Amino acid sequence: MKEGATAEPARLAQFVDKIVGDLGAVLSIALVRIGDRLGLYRALHEYGPMTSEELAAKAQIAERYAREWLSHQAACGYLSYDPPSLRFTLPPEQAMVFAEPESPVFMMGGFDSAAAMVENAEAVEAAFRTGKGLGWSEQLQCAVCASARFFRPTYHNNLVASWLPALDGVVAKLEAGAMVADVGCGHGFSTVIMAASFPNSTFVGYDFHPESIIQAKAHAAAHGVTANTRFAVALADDFPGPENYDLVTFFDCLHDMGDPAGAARHVRETLKPDGTWMIVEPVAGDRLEDNLTPVGRICYAASTMVCVPTSLAQPVGAALGGQAGFGKLSEVIRRGGFGHVRKAIETSFNMILEARP
Ligand SMILES: C[S@@+](CC[C@H](N)C(=O)[O-])C[C@H]1O[C@@H](n2cnc3c(N)ncnc32)[C@H](O)[C@@H]1O
Repeated sequence: MKEGATAEPARLAQFVDKIVGDLGAVLSIALVRIGDRLGLYRALHEYGPMTSEELAAKAQIAERYAREWLSHQAACGYLSYDPPSLRFTLPPEQAMVFAEPESPVFMMGGFDSAAAMVENAEAVEAAFRTGKGLGWSEQLQCAVCASARFFRPTYHNNLVASWLPALDGVVAKLEAGAMVADVGCGHGFSTVIMAASFPNSTFVGYDFHPESIIQAKAHAAAHGVTANTRFAVALADDFPGPENYDLVTFFDCLHDMGDPAGAARHVRETLKPDGTWMIVEPVAGDRLEDNLTPVGRICYAASTMVCVPTSLAQPVGAALGGQAGFGKLSEVIRRGGFGHVRKAIETSFNMILEARP
């Protein structure tokens, strides 16, 4: 330890307590995902309070494992435990997080993302040494799915209900019949949600990751929106259509791009003169000290492990980072030729920016 710096016992005890909590959370990742994959949360949600024998029978798993898993979940505060009856309950609030995929706070994708980051750590560690990037297609496939699963509940609950209405005149255009490009669409969840709500409009999803485009097409077919959707592999600074689009959307991808200013310039060229560019980004303040929060902690982790390596693997390699903040983002957007940029609405995880020529 540096001379003169001594640990203060009360502060040390407080910090060790915090780390015990953090370690407990980290060690829960595997158990939460096992509970998801084996349908244990769903069984508890559907059938109500259960003993380990009852859960084992319903989920068709071994009772000894069920008992240990249930005990762990109760220690986490994810389940409640009633000693007289030996039954475990998934309370309604916990059910929204673990067992209801349509709920606005369903977070299973977050646990999947955490697992993927651990699995990808060796490759990212190598990139720390070289300074090179790690391409999106070099990320494990499960990382791509995890990120799509993580974002979907937010889009499902906010996109049509509050985000699009926060943009000036956009909903009226979508109802009448607009041409929309959803760039960096990934698995196309955002594209499909919009297409289902606005059948008069046409939605084209673009992404440079071919496997994601295959998934997006399958997703559109599964949700019956093939009539007004198309998907194609394309770069954000090169997708087709000069002066074609009424609306271009970027969901959680501008900061992942190697050349976000180049993408901005291209969006400007492909938009109609009265068109709108909607940019969804993680919520963040402009200064590091504004982002030292629980959400900032999650976003900086994802940014270090996924967003920065993805951008550095592309030409220019701007690496804006997942906590770029409105100031830096609006500067990039303005460099693309947009005269008006504003924050249209904000949630606890996202900020929705509106840019107009
Ligand atoms: C975090 S994911 C978000 C995906 C999707 N928009 C969503 O919200 O679920 C970032 C996406 O940006 C795409 N992407 C990154 N750089 C790109 C580029 N230069 N051109 C096109 N797509 C890009 C990736 O393939 C990936 O699908």
